[in-house]
Amino acid sequence: MSDPHAEAQLSKTEILARKNQEALLGGGQARIDAQHQKGKLTARERVDLLLDEGSFEEIGKFVMHRSKDFGLDKEYYLGDGVVTGYGTVNGRLVYVFSQDFTVFGGSLSETHAEKIVKIMDLAMKNGAPVIGLNDSGGARIQEGVVSLGGYADIFYKNTLASGVVPQLSAIMGPCAGGAVYSPAITDFILMVENTSYMFVTGPNVVKTVTHENVTSEELGGASTHSAKSGVTHFTAPNEVAIIQQLKQLLSYMPQNCEETAPALPYSAADETRAVLDTIIPENPNQPYDIREVIEGIIDADTFMEVHQNFAENIVVGFARLGGRSIGIVGNQPAVLAGVLDINASTKAARFVRFCDSFNIPLLVLEDVPGFLPGTDQEWRGIITNGAKLLYAFCEATVPRITVITRKAYGGAYDVMNSKHIGADMNYAWPTAEIAVMGAKGAAEIIFKREIAQAENPEAKLQEKVDEYQQKFATPYRAAHRGFVDEVILPSQTRQKLIRAFKMLENKVDTLPRKKHGNIPL
Ligand code: HXC
Repeated sequence: MSDPHAEAQLSKTEILARKNQEALLGGGQARIDAQHQKGKLTARERVDLLLDEGSFEEIGKFVMHRSKDFGLDKEYYLGDGVVTGYGTVNGRLVYVFSQDFTVFGGSLSETHAEKIVKIMDLAMKNGAPVIGLNDSGGARIQEGVVSLGGYADIFYKNTLASGVVPQLSAIMGPCAGGAVYSPAITDFILMVENTSYMFVTGPNVVKTVTHENVTSEELGGASTHSAKSGVTHFTAPNEVAIIQQLKQLLSYMPQNCEETAPALPYSAADETRAVLDTIIPENPNQPYDIREVIEGIIDADTFMEVHQNFAENIVVGFARLGGRSIGIVGNQPAVLAGVLDINASTKAARFVRFCDSFNIPLLVLEDVPGFLPGTDQEWRGIITNGAKLLYAFCEATVPRITVITRKAYGGAYDVMNSKHIGADMNYAWPTAEIAVMGAKGAAEIIFKREIAQAENPEAKLQEKVDEYQQKFATPYRAAHRGFVDEVILPSQTRQKLIRAFKMLENKVDTLPRKKHGNIPL
Protein backbone atom coordinates (compact mmCIF):
# COMPACT_ATOMS: atom_id res chain seq x y z
CA MET A 1 0.00 0.00 0.00
CA SER A 2 1.39 3.34 -0.94
CA ASP A 3 1.21 6.22 1.49
CA PRO A 4 -0.77 9.06 -0.16
CA HIS A 5 0.89 11.62 2.09
CA ALA A 6 4.33 10.45 1.02
CA GLU A 7 3.21 10.45 -2.59
CA ALA A 8 1.99 14.03 -2.28
CA GLN A 9 5.34 14.98 -0.72
CA LEU A 10 7.18 13.20 -3.49
CA SER A 11 5.29 14.91 -6.25
CA LYS A 12 5.83 18.26 -4.56
CA THR A 13 9.51 17.45 -4.43
CA GLU A 14 9.45 16.45 -8.04
CA ILE A 15 7.86 19.71 -9.03
CA LEU A 16 10.40 21.65 -7.03
CA ALA A 17 13.18 19.56 -8.49
CA ARG A 18 12.01 20.30 -12.00
CA LYS A 19 11.84 24.01 -11.19
CA ASN A 20 15.27 23.91 -9.72
CA GLN A 21 16.65 21.95 -12.61
CA GLU A 22 15.39 24.66 -14.93
CA ALA A 23 16.93 27.28 -12.68
CA LEU A 24 20.22 25.43 -12.49
CA LEU A 25 20.58 24.38 -16.06
CA GLY A 26 19.06 27.61 -17.34
CA GLY A 27 21.33 29.68 -15.14
CA GLY A 28 19.42 30.35 -11.89
CA GLN A 29 19.92 34.00 -12.73
CA ALA A 30 19.01 35.51 -9.37
CA ARG A 31 21.51 33.35 -7.54
CA ILE A 32 24.16 33.94 -10.18
CA ASP A 33 23.61 37.70 -9.87
CA ALA A 34 23.88 37.51 -6.07
CA GLN A 35 27.23 35.80 -6.35
CA HIS A 36 28.51 38.25 -9.00
CA GLN A 37 27.42 41.22 -6.88
CA LYS A 38 29.83 40.03 -4.21
CA GLY A 39 32.64 40.05 -6.77
CA LYS A 40 32.62 36.26 -6.90
CA LEU A 41 32.22 33.75 -9.70
CA THR A 42 29.67 30.96 -9.51
CA ALA A 43 30.63 27.39 -8.72
CA ARG A 44 30.19 26.39 -12.38
CA GLU A 45 32.09 29.37 -13.75
CA ARG A 46 35.02 28.38 -11.55
CA VAL A 47 34.97 24.80 -12.82
CA ASP A 48 34.82 26.04 -16.41
CA LEU A 49 37.81 28.31 -15.85
CA LEU A 50 39.83 25.55 -14.24
CA LEU A 51 39.26 22.71 -16.68
CA ASP A 52 40.18 22.36 -20.33
CA GLU A 53 37.30 23.53 -22.48
CA GLY A 54 34.61 20.89 -22.87
CA SER A 55 36.37 18.36 -20.65
CA PHE A 56 34.10 18.54 -17.60
CA GLU A 57 31.96 15.52 -16.79
CA GLU A 58 29.60 16.15 -13.92
CA ILE A 59 28.77 13.48 -11.34
CA GLY A 60 25.73 13.68 -9.05
CA LYS A 61 23.94 16.56 -10.75
CA PHE A 62 20.55 15.36 -9.51
CA VAL A 63 21.47 14.69 -5.90
CA MET A 64 19.26 16.48 -3.35
CA HIS A 65 19.40 16.73 0.44
CA ARG A 66 17.43 14.28 2.59
CA SER A 67 16.82 16.25 5.76
CA LYS A 68 13.38 17.76 6.31
CA ASP A 69 13.91 19.72 9.53
CA PHE A 70 13.80 23.51 9.94
CA GLY A 71 12.21 24.18 6.56
CA LEU A 72 14.53 21.98 4.53
CA ASP A 73 11.44 20.14 3.24
CA LYS A 74 10.43 23.29 1.37
CA GLU A 75 13.59 24.17 -0.45
CA TYR A 76 15.51 21.81 -2.72
CA TYR A 77 18.35 22.41 -5.12
CA LEU A 78 19.64 19.91 -7.62
CA GLY A 79 23.21 19.04 -6.83
CA ASP A 80 22.75 20.17 -3.21
CA GLY A 81 25.19 23.06 -3.25
CA VAL A 82 28.22 21.39 -4.72
CA VAL A 83 29.25 20.72 -8.32
CA THR A 84 31.41 17.59 -8.55
CA GLY A 85 33.04 15.65 -11.35
CA TYR A 86 36.18 15.20 -13.37
CA GLY A 87 37.93 16.76 -16.35
CA THR A 88 41.39 17.70 -17.51
CA VAL A 89 43.84 20.51 -16.83
CA ASN A 90 46.35 20.82 -19.67
CA GLY A 91 45.30 17.37 -20.77
CA ARG A 92 45.81 15.70 -17.37
CA LEU A 93 42.95 14.13 -15.42
CA VAL A 94 41.77 15.88 -12.23
CA TYR A 95 38.77 15.47 -9.95
CA VAL A 96 37.06 18.62 -8.79
CA PHE A 97 34.38 19.80 -6.39
CA SER A 98 33.10 23.34 -6.37
CA GLN A 99 30.83 24.57 -3.59
CA ASP A 100 27.88 26.80 -4.43
CA PHE A 101 27.49 29.52 -1.81
CA THR A 102 24.08 30.45 -3.23
CA VAL A 103 22.65 27.16 -1.95
CA PHE A 104 22.34 27.35 1.85
CA GLY A 105 25.62 29.26 2.02
CA GLY A 106 27.49 26.35 0.41
CA SER A 107 26.92 24.53 3.70
CA LEU A 108 27.75 20.87 3.92
CA SER A 109 24.85 18.46 4.18
CA GLU A 110 24.99 14.68 4.36
CA THR A 111 24.49 14.38 0.59
CA HIS A 112 26.83 17.26 -0.25
CA ALA A 113 29.50 15.36 1.70
CA GLU A 114 28.70 12.09 -0.08
CA LYS A 115 29.30 13.74 -3.44
CA ILE A 116 32.73 14.99 -2.36
CA VAL A 117 33.67 11.63 -0.86
CA LYS A 118 32.63 9.90 -4.09
CA ILE A 119 35.05 11.88 -6.23
CA MET A 120 37.81 11.47 -3.65
CA ASP A 121 37.36 7.70 -3.82
CA LEU A 122 37.54 7.85 -7.61
CA ALA A 123 40.64 10.04 -7.44
CA MET A 124 42.44 7.61 -5.15
CA LYS A 125 41.50 4.55 -7.21
CA ASN A 126 42.45 6.19 -10.48
CA GLY A 127 45.46 8.13 -9.27
CA ALA A 128 44.68 11.75 -10.07
CA PRO A 129 44.69 15.01 -8.05
CA VAL A 130 41.63 16.35 -6.23
CA ILE A 131 40.93 20.06 -6.43
CA GLY A 132 38.47 21.64 -4.02
CA LEU A 133 36.99 25.05 -4.80
CA ASN A 134 35.71 25.92 -1.34
CA ASP A 135 32.98 28.43 -0.57
CA SER A 136 31.04 27.21 2.43
CA GLY A 137 29.52 28.27 5.75
CA GLY A 138 30.47 24.91 7.26
CA ALA A 139 28.19 22.19 8.57
CA ARG A 140 24.57 22.65 7.42
CA ILE A 141 23.16 23.77 10.71
CA GLN A 142 19.62 22.44 10.06
CA GLU A 143 20.93 18.90 9.57
CA GLY A 144 22.72 18.46 12.87
CA VAL A 145 24.84 15.40 13.37
CA VAL A 146 24.52 13.93 9.85
CA SER A 147 26.27 17.00 8.56
CA LEU A 148 29.02 16.62 11.16
CA GLY A 149 29.30 12.99 10.10
CA GLY A 150 29.66 14.15 6.50
CA TYR A 151 32.58 16.36 7.45
CA ALA A 152 34.24 13.56 9.36
CA ASP A 153 33.86 11.31 6.29
CA ILE A 154 35.67 13.95 4.22
CA PHE A 155 38.44 14.47 6.78
CA TYR A 156 38.98 10.73 6.88
CA LYS A 157 39.23 10.53 3.08
CA ASN A 158 41.53 13.57 2.99
CA THR A 159 43.82 11.78 5.38
CA LEU A 160 43.73 8.48 3.49
CA ALA A 161 44.38 10.32 0.22
CA SER A 162 47.27 12.31 1.73
CA GLY A 163 50.45 11.21 0.01
CA VAL A 164 48.48 9.12 -2.51
CA VAL A 165 47.25 11.89 -4.80
CA PRO A 166 47.90 15.65 -4.60
CA GLN A 167 45.03 17.55 -2.95
CA LEU A 168 44.69 21.28 -3.57
CA SER A 169 42.22 23.63 -1.88
CA ALA A 170 41.27 27.01 -3.30
CA ILE A 171 39.32 29.19 -0.86
CA MET A 172 36.88 31.24 -2.91
CA GLY A 173 34.61 32.71 -0.23
CA PRO A 174 33.92 32.56 3.48
CA CYS A 175 34.88 29.18 4.88
CA ALA A 176 33.90 28.55 8.45
CA GLY A 177 33.80 25.69 10.91
CA GLY A 178 34.33 22.31 9.32
CA ALA A 179 34.93 24.01 5.97
CA VAL A 180 38.45 24.91 7.07
CA TYR A 181 39.61 21.57 8.38
CA SER A 182 39.36 19.65 5.14
CA PRO A 183 41.56 22.23 3.33
CA ALA A 184 43.95 22.13 6.29
CA ILE A 185 44.60 18.43 5.74
CA THR A 186 45.18 18.89 2.00
CA ASP A 187 48.59 19.69 0.50
CA PHE A 188 48.15 23.32 -0.53
CA ILE A 189 45.73 26.15 0.25
CA LEU A 190 45.21 29.15 -2.03
CA MET A 191 43.12 32.16 -0.94
CA VAL A 192 41.51 35.00 -2.88
CA GLU A 193 42.29 38.42 -1.38
CA ASN A 194 39.37 40.34 0.13
CA THR A 195 36.60 37.87 -0.77
CA SER A 196 37.74 34.75 1.07
CA TYR A 197 38.07 34.01 4.76
CA MET A 198 38.94 31.02 6.85
CA PHE A 199 38.14 30.68 10.51
CA VAL A 200 37.06 28.01 12.93
CA THR A 201 34.68 30.48 14.55
CA GLY A 202 33.67 33.84 13.07
CA PRO A 203 33.99 37.36 14.54
CA ASN A 204 30.65 37.15 16.43
CA VAL A 205 31.65 34.06 18.36
CA VAL A 206 35.08 35.54 18.99
CA LYS A 207 33.47 38.64 20.49
CA THR A 208 31.28 36.54 22.78
CA VAL A 209 34.06 34.29 23.97
CA THR A 210 37.16 36.49 24.11
CA HIS A 211 35.54 39.97 23.90
CA GLU A 212 37.82 40.81 20.98
CA ASN A 213 36.51 43.07 18.23
CA VAL A 214 37.88 41.78 14.99
CA THR A 215 36.75 41.93 11.38
CA SER A 216 36.46 38.84 9.18
CA GLU A 217 39.41 40.10 7.16
CA GLU A 218 41.62 40.59 10.22
CA LEU A 219 40.58 37.29 11.73
CA GLY A 220 40.90 35.07 8.73
CA GLY A 221 41.48 36.96 5.48
CA ALA A 222 44.07 36.04 2.88
CA SER A 223 46.74 38.43 4.20
CA THR A 224 46.31 37.17 7.77
CA HIS A 225 46.70 33.57 6.74
CA SER A 226 49.56 34.20 4.34
CA ALA A 227 51.71 36.32 6.68
CA LYS A 228 50.61 35.61 10.26
CA SER A 229 49.30 32.07 10.59
CA GLY A 230 50.85 30.47 7.52
CA VAL A 231 47.59 28.60 6.91
CA THR A 232 47.52 29.58 3.24
CA HIS A 233 50.38 28.89 0.86
CA PHE A 234 49.31 31.25 -1.92
CA THR A 235 47.13 34.33 -2.35
CA ALA A 236 45.99 36.21 -5.43
CA PRO A 237 43.94 39.35 -6.05
CA ASN A 238 41.06 37.57 -7.76
CA GLU A 239 39.58 34.18 -8.58
CA VAL A 240 40.92 34.07 -12.12
CA ALA A 241 44.47 34.52 -10.80
CA ILE A 242 43.91 31.82 -8.16
CA ILE A 243 42.79 29.37 -10.83
CA GLN A 244 45.89 30.21 -12.87
CA GLN A 245 47.97 29.44 -9.78
CA LEU A 246 46.19 26.10 -9.35
CA LYS A 247 47.08 25.15 -12.92
CA GLN A 248 50.71 26.21 -12.52
CA LEU A 249 51.00 24.33 -9.25
CA LEU A 250 49.64 21.17 -10.83
CA SER A 251 52.24 21.39 -13.60
CA TYR A 252 55.05 20.66 -11.11
CA MET A 253 53.33 17.59 -9.68
CA PRO A 254 52.86 14.02 -10.76
CA GLN A 255 49.35 12.60 -10.88
CA ASN A 256 49.97 10.36 -7.87
CA CYS A 257 52.67 8.93 -5.62
CA GLU A 258 53.64 6.21 -8.11
CA GLU A 259 54.55 8.65 -10.87
CA THR A 260 57.02 11.45 -11.48
CA ALA A 261 56.11 14.95 -12.60
CA PRO A 262 56.04 15.53 -16.34
CA ALA A 263 59.32 16.87 -17.76
CA LEU A 264 59.37 19.66 -20.32
CA PRO A 265 61.60 19.54 -23.40
CA TYR A 266 65.01 20.94 -22.57
CA SER A 267 67.90 21.98 -24.78
CA ALA A 268 71.35 22.14 -23.19
CA ALA A 269 72.39 25.66 -24.09
CA ASP A 270 72.82 27.90 -21.07
CA GLU A 271 74.44 25.82 -18.34
CA THR A 272 77.08 28.33 -17.32
CA ARG A 273 75.60 31.21 -15.38
CA ALA A 274 78.29 33.85 -14.79
CA VAL A 275 75.87 35.99 -12.80
CA LEU A 276 76.14 33.55 -9.90
CA ASP A 277 79.81 34.43 -9.42
CA THR A 278 78.93 37.96 -8.31
CA ILE A 279 76.06 37.41 -5.85
CA ILE A 280 77.86 36.58 -2.59
CA PRO A 281 79.09 39.84 -1.00
CA GLU A 282 82.73 40.27 0.05
CA ASN A 283 81.69 40.83 3.64
CA PRO A 284 80.31 37.55 5.03
CA ASN A 285 77.88 39.46 7.26
CA GLN A 286 76.28 41.32 4.39
CA PRO A 287 72.92 39.97 3.22
CA TYR A 288 71.93 38.97 -0.30
CA ASP A 289 68.69 37.63 -1.73
CA ILE A 290 68.67 33.85 -2.11
CA ARG A 291 66.05 34.28 -4.86
CA GLU A 292 68.84 35.70 -7.05
CA VAL A 293 70.75 32.45 -6.56
CA ILE A 294 67.62 30.42 -7.32
CA GLU A 295 66.93 32.39 -10.51
CA GLY A 296 70.57 32.00 -11.48
CA ILE A 297 70.36 28.23 -11.26
CA ILE A 298 66.94 27.24 -12.63
CA ASP A 299 65.29 27.29 -16.05
CA ALA A 300 64.16 30.85 -16.81
CA ASP A 301 60.91 32.01 -15.17
CA THR A 302 60.01 28.68 -13.62
CA PHE A 303 60.14 29.48 -9.91
CA MET A 304 56.81 29.24 -8.09
CA GLU A 305 57.37 30.32 -4.52
CA VAL A 306 55.29 28.68 -1.80
CA HIS A 307 54.44 30.53 1.45
CA GLN A 308 56.04 33.70 0.10
CA ASN A 309 54.91 35.95 2.96
CA PHE A 310 55.36 33.53 5.85
CA ALA A 311 58.66 32.83 7.64
CA GLU A 312 60.55 34.79 5.02
CA ASN A 313 63.88 33.72 6.49
CA ILE A 314 63.49 30.55 4.46
CA VAL A 315 62.40 30.37 0.82
CA VAL A 316 60.67 27.28 -0.56
CA GLY A 317 59.08 26.59 -3.91
CA PHE A 318 58.88 24.62 -7.11
CA ALA A 319 61.01 25.19 -10.19
CA ARG A 320 62.31 23.41 -13.26
CA LEU A 321 65.91 22.45 -13.82
CA GLY A 322 66.76 21.14 -17.27
CA GLY A 323 63.02 20.75 -17.83
CA ARG A 324 62.46 18.62 -14.71
CA SER A 325 60.37 19.58 -11.72
CA ILE A 326 62.30 20.14 -8.46
CA GLY A 327 61.52 21.48 -4.99
CA ILE A 328 63.86 24.14 -3.61
CA VAL A 329 64.53 24.97 0.04
CA GLY A 330 66.85 27.94 0.55
CA ASN A 331 67.89 29.87 3.65
CA GLN A 332 67.26 33.56 3.06
CA PRO A 333 70.22 35.69 4.27
CA ALA A 334 68.22 38.83 3.46
CA VAL A 335 65.78 38.13 6.34
CA LEU A 336 67.04 37.56 9.90
CA ALA A 337 70.37 36.51 8.33
CA GLY A 338 68.66 33.28 7.21
CA VAL A 339 68.43 31.92 10.75
CA LEU A 340 66.23 28.89 11.38
CA ASP A 341 63.32 29.56 13.74
CA ILE A 342 60.06 27.78 14.56
CA ASN A 343 58.07 29.06 11.59
CA ALA A 344 60.90 28.55 9.10
CA SER A 345 61.38 24.98 10.30
CA THR A 346 57.72 23.99 10.07
CA LYS A 347 57.29 25.74 6.72
CA ALA A 348 60.25 23.95 5.17
CA ALA A 349 59.43 20.60 6.82
CA ARG A 350 55.97 20.53 5.31
CA PHE A 351 57.33 21.38 1.87
CA VAL A 352 60.03 18.71 2.08
CA ARG A 353 57.42 16.12 3.02
CA PHE A 354 55.19 17.10 0.11
CA CYS A 355 58.07 16.77 -2.35
CA ASP A 356 59.11 13.46 -0.89
CA SER A 357 55.54 12.11 -1.02
CA PHE A 358 55.31 12.87 -4.72
CA ASN A 359 58.78 12.03 -6.01
CA ILE A 360 59.90 15.61 -6.56
CA PRO A 361 63.70 15.88 -6.12
CA LEU A 362 64.96 18.38 -3.56
CA LEU A 363 67.58 21.08 -3.96
CA VAL A 364 68.77 22.80 -0.78
CA LEU A 365 70.63 26.12 -0.90
CA GLU A 366 72.32 26.62 2.42
CA ASP A 367 73.43 29.82 4.10
CA VAL A 368 72.43 29.52 7.72
CA PRO A 369 74.04 30.96 10.85
CA GLY A 370 72.19 28.50 13.11
CA PHE A 371 68.96 28.29 15.09
CA LEU A 372 67.48 31.49 16.54
CA PRO A 373 68.39 31.82 20.24
CA GLY A 374 66.15 33.33 22.92
CA THR A 375 63.36 32.70 25.39
CA ASP A 376 60.59 33.29 22.86
CA GLN A 377 61.83 30.49 20.63
CA GLU A 378 62.81 28.13 23.44
CA TRP A 379 59.52 28.53 25.29
CA ARG A 380 57.49 28.04 22.15
CA GLY A 381 59.39 24.89 21.33
CA ILE A 382 62.17 25.51 18.82
CA ILE A 383 63.48 22.12 19.91
CA THR A 384 60.39 20.19 18.80
CA ASN A 385 59.77 22.41 15.79
CA GLY A 386 63.34 22.47 14.55
CA ALA A 387 63.29 18.70 14.85
CA LYS A 388 60.43 18.59 12.34
CA LEU A 389 62.71 19.84 9.60
CA LEU A 390 65.48 17.51 10.66
CA TYR A 391 63.07 14.58 10.66
CA ALA A 392 61.59 15.55 7.30
CA PHE A 393 64.99 15.60 5.60
CA CYS A 394 66.17 12.41 7.31
CA GLU A 395 63.08 10.58 6.11
CA ALA A 396 63.10 11.87 2.51
CA THR A 397 64.10 9.27 -0.09
CA VAL A 398 63.86 11.43 -3.22
CA PRO A 399 67.09 12.62 -4.90
CA ARG A 400 68.52 15.26 -2.56
CA ILE A 401 71.30 17.74 -3.33
CA THR A 402 72.71 20.55 -1.20
CA VAL A 403 74.73 23.56 -2.28
CA ILE A 404 76.37 25.46 0.58
CA THR A 405 76.69 29.02 -0.65
CA ARG A 406 78.08 30.56 2.53
CA LYS A 407 77.39 29.75 6.19
CA ALA A 408 76.68 26.25 7.43
CA TYR A 409 76.94 26.59 11.16
CA GLY A 410 76.14 24.35 14.06
CA GLY A 411 73.11 22.10 14.20
CA ALA A 412 71.74 23.90 11.19
CA TYR A 413 74.59 22.37 9.13
CA ASP A 414 73.30 18.93 10.06
CA VAL A 415 69.65 19.81 9.54
CA MET A 416 69.92 21.48 6.15
CA ASN A 417 70.20 18.27 4.15
CA SER A 418 73.74 17.33 5.13
CA LYS A 419 75.30 14.17 3.72
CA HIS A 420 75.09 12.66 7.19
CA ILE A 421 71.28 12.63 7.04
CA GLY A 422 71.05 11.20 3.57
CA ALA A 423 71.77 13.92 1.01
CA ASP A 424 73.01 12.31 -2.20
CA MET A 425 75.35 15.06 -3.33
CA ASN A 426 76.70 18.01 -1.42
CA TYR A 427 78.45 20.90 -3.16
CA ALA A 428 80.02 24.00 -1.66
CA TRP A 429 80.96 27.30 -3.18
CA PRO A 430 84.46 28.62 -2.30
CA THR A 431 82.74 31.16 -0.02
CA ALA A 432 81.33 28.38 2.20
CA GLU A 433 82.04 28.45 5.94
CA ILE A 434 81.36 25.15 7.67
CA ALA A 435 81.89 25.14 11.42
CA VAL A 436 80.31 24.48 14.79
CA MET A 437 79.74 28.19 15.24
CA GLY A 438 80.86 31.63 14.07
CA ALA A 439 84.58 32.35 14.58
CA LYS A 440 84.11 35.08 17.22
CA GLY A 441 81.79 33.02 19.42
CA ALA A 442 84.03 29.99 19.05
CA ALA A 443 87.21 31.89 19.96
CA GLU A 444 85.55 33.51 22.99
CA ILE A 445 84.65 30.09 24.36
CA ILE A 446 87.64 27.91 23.62
CA PHE A 447 90.32 30.55 24.23
CA LYS A 448 88.54 32.26 27.14
CA ARG A 449 91.39 31.82 29.63
CA GLU A 450 94.14 32.67 27.14
CA ILE A 451 92.34 35.85 26.10
CA ALA A 452 91.68 36.91 29.71
CA GLN A 453 95.33 36.43 30.64
CA ALA A 454 96.71 38.22 27.58
CA GLU A 455 98.33 41.62 27.89
CA ASN A 456 96.03 42.88 25.18
CA PRO A 457 92.86 40.75 25.35
CA GLU A 458 91.30 42.41 22.32
CA ALA A 459 94.27 41.69 20.09
CA LYS A 460 94.41 38.14 21.40
CA LEU A 461 90.74 37.63 20.64
CA GLN A 462 91.24 38.87 17.09
CA GLU A 463 94.23 36.58 16.65
CA LYS A 464 92.19 33.58 17.80
CA VAL A 465 89.22 34.59 15.66
CA ASP A 466 91.49 34.73 12.61
CA GLU A 467 92.98 31.36 13.50
CA TYR A 468 89.58 29.71 13.86
CA GLN A 469 88.30 31.38 10.71
CA GLN A 470 91.25 30.20 8.67
CA LYS A 471 90.77 26.63 9.82
CA PHE A 472 87.06 26.28 9.61
CA ALA A 473 85.50 29.14 7.69
CA THR A 474 86.14 27.35 4.43
CA PRO A 475 84.59 24.37 2.65
CA TYR A 476 87.85 22.42 2.50
CA ARG A 477 87.85 20.78 5.93
CA ALA A 478 84.45 19.27 5.09
CA ALA A 479 85.62 18.40 1.57
CA HIS A 480 88.70 16.58 2.92
CA ARG A 481 86.31 14.39 4.88
CA GLY A 482 84.01 13.85 1.91
CA PHE A 483 81.13 15.62 3.67
CA VAL A 484 81.26 17.98 0.70
CA ASP A 485 81.64 16.14 -2.62
CA GLU A 486 83.07 19.03 -4.58
CA VAL A 487 83.91 22.69 -4.19
CA ILE A 488 82.52 24.35 -7.30
CA LEU A 489 82.43 27.79 -8.83
CA PRO A 490 79.00 29.36 -8.51
CA SER A 491 78.77 29.74 -12.30
CA GLN A 492 79.16 25.94 -12.67
CA THR A 493 76.28 25.19 -10.30
CA ARG A 494 73.54 24.79 -12.86
CA GLN A 495 75.56 22.39 -14.96
CA LYS A 496 76.62 20.34 -11.93
CA LEU A 497 73.05 20.13 -10.68
CA ILE A 498 71.54 19.13 -14.02
CA ARG A 499 74.08 16.33 -14.30
CA ALA A 500 73.73 15.20 -10.70
CA PHE A 501 69.93 15.13 -10.77
CA LYS A 502 70.09 13.17 -14.04
CA MET A 503 72.50 10.74 -12.39
CA LEU A 504 70.03 10.37 -9.50
CA GLU A 505 66.86 10.04 -11.56
CA ASN A 506 66.47 6.31 -10.96
CA LYS A 507 67.37 6.48 -7.28
CA VAL A 508 65.69 3.83 -5.14
CA ASP A 509 65.91 4.13 -1.40
CA THR A 510 63.64 2.59 1.20
CA LEU A 511 63.05 3.23 4.87
CA PRO A 512 63.04 0.43 7.44
CA ARG A 513 59.70 -1.41 7.54
CA LYS A 514 57.36 0.29 9.96
CA LYS A 515 53.71 1.23 10.36
CA HIS A 516 54.63 4.91 10.23
CA GLY A 517 57.20 7.12 11.88
CA ASN A 518 56.41 9.55 14.65
CA ILE A 519 57.43 13.00 13.42
CA PRO A 520 57.74 15.41 16.39
CA LEU A 521 54.47 17.29 15.87
C1 HXC B 1 23.02 26.48 6.82
C2 HXC B 1 23.91 28.50 6.20
C3 HXC B 1 25.11 28.20 6.88
C4 HXC B 1 25.20 26.95 7.53
C5 HXC B 1 25.30 30.14 5.99
N1 HXC B 1 24.07 29.71 5.69
N2 HXC B 1 25.95 29.23 6.73
N3 HXC B 1 22.88 27.64 6.19
N4 HXC B 1 24.15 26.13 7.48
N5 HXC B 1 26.31 26.59 8.16
C6 HXC B 1 23.05 30.40 4.89
C7 HXC B 1 22.51 31.64 5.58
O1 HXC B 1 21.47 31.28 6.45
C8 HXC B 1 22.04 32.45 4.41
O2 HXC B 1 20.80 31.95 3.98
C9 HXC B 1 23.06 32.12 3.33
O3 HXC B 1 23.66 30.90 3.72
C10 HXC B 1 24.14 33.16 3.20
O4 HXC B 1 24.68 33.41 4.48
P1 HXC B 1 24.95 34.89 5.02
O5 HXC B 1 25.18 34.79 6.48
O6 HXC B 1 23.89 35.81 4.54
O7 HXC B 1 26.30 35.23 4.22
P2 HXC B 1 27.52 36.10 4.71
O8 HXC B 1 27.07 37.37 5.36
O9 HXC B 1 28.41 36.20 3.52
O10 HXC B 1 28.26 35.24 5.84
C11 HXC B 1 28.84 33.99 5.52
C12 HXC B 1 29.25 33.25 6.79
C13 HXC B 1 28.04 33.19 7.75
C14 HXC B 1 30.44 33.96 7.45
C15 HXC B 1 29.72 31.86 6.38
O11 HXC B 1 26.89 32.75 7.03
C16 HXC B 1 28.25 32.29 8.89
O12 HXC B 1 28.89 32.68 9.89
N6 HXC B 1 27.67 31.10 8.83
C17 HXC B 1 27.75 30.12 9.90
C18 HXC B 1 29.10 29.58 10.07
C19 HXC B 1 29.12 28.48 11.04
O13 HXC B 1 29.11 28.74 12.27
N7 HXC B 1 28.98 27.24 10.53
C20 HXC B 1 28.81 26.04 11.31
C21 HXC B 1 30.13 25.68 11.86
S1 HXC B 1 30.12 24.23 12.77
P3 HXC B 1 19.65 32.89 3.36
O14 HXC B 1 18.52 31.95 3.17
O15 HXC B 1 19.41 33.95 4.37
O16 HXC B 1 20.24 33.40 2.09
C22 HXC B 1 30.90 23.17 11.79
C23 HXC B 1 31.16 21.89 12.49
C24 HXC B 1 32.17 21.04 11.82
O17 HXC B 1 31.16 23.40 10.67
C25 HXC B 1 33.35 20.87 12.71
C26 HXC B 1 34.28 19.87 12.18
C27 HXC B 1 35.62 19.89 12.88
